Amino acid sequence: MSEVTGRAATEYGVLFVGVSVQGQVRQLLDGVRVGIASRWRFGRVGAVDVAGQRLSGPGTLSGMSADGWLTDTRTSYDTVAVSYADYIRGALAGAPYLRAALALFADLVHTTGGGPVADVGCGPGHVTAHLHELSLDAFGIDLSPAMIDVARRDHPGLRFEVGSMTDLQLADESVAGLLAFWSLIHIPDDAVPAVFGQFRRVLRPGGPLLLGFHVGTESRLKTQGYGGHPMKVHVHRRRPDQVAAWLRDAGFAVEAHMLTDPDENVPGALLFARRPPRSSEPHED
Ligand SMILES: C[S@@+](CC[C@H](N)C(=O)[O-])C[C@H]1O[C@@H](n2cnc3c(N)ncnc32)[C@H](O)[C@@H]1O
Repeated sequence: MSEVTGRAATEYGVLFVGVSVQGQVRQLLDGVRVGIASRWRFGRVGAVDVAGQRLSGPGTLSGMSADGWLTDTRTSYDTVAVSYADYIRGALAGAPYLRAALALFADLVHTTGGGPVADVGCGPGHVTAHLHELSLDAFGIDLSPAMIDVARRDHPGLRFEVGSMTDLQLADESVAGLLAFWSLIHIPDDAVPAVFGQFRRVLRPGGPLLLGFHVGTESRLKTQGYGGHPMKVHVHRRRPDQVAAWLRDAGFAVEAHMLTDPDENVPGALLFARRPPRSSEPHED
């Protein structure tokens, strides 16, 4: 059991803060491999070719549900896209635990053979770009066309596409890894199981999943943000054990989770899961 403390504030909560680790964590710093012995507590709108599949066309949200909350979320992030990008830019530089988690995630993808990695709810694409720097073939998907424009502007060499995690326009088993950083926070409870079903569908067997989210039990309606711009978006905080239960129900193996800033009002959680390799999935006749 190891403990590390420190702090720095960002959208992700207060980072650099207390982490309790059961088991062994080796080289828990930027750009290195992390080994776990037991359990952590813890655009341009247009088509993109991912693993041979064409995604949705210019400006479309193919097949997307017309649910009001989805529309409100998209409109809200369209409104704040530029200011959110300014706000979050550089946040990873002050977030060693996030970087370590991303390095571990990259390592897991590489050790399972590599391939396309989806950053779902990528926002302005800074995490997508970080994954790319970790030698992953990362691409971003976001509900907000304005966010995608910003991501393409800031990271012109990378692939970004408009889409919703509620209806991913990706082929079955087409991605080697999937990450959703603080984007699931806008999905209501009753829609989460279907979203996890989408994640499992597009992940190839053995592929890792990394989720980042706010910890808690409350949901609140955010009516403004990132410089006082109007928003109408629900933010759902969740207990990691609840998220883990949903993941298991969707067919994932939950492997680890890390709790950041446990002494703050809104801790963060990083949860690692995996679509089980085909050999360990239930046999279907
Ligand atoms: C708090 S921001 C996080 C952005 C980025 N992942 C980061 O870590 O900075 C939430 C993002 O999730 C996106 N989002 C919300 N609901 C989504 C959905 N159903 N499908 C895809 N993206 C979604 C929003 O448009 C927004 O860009």
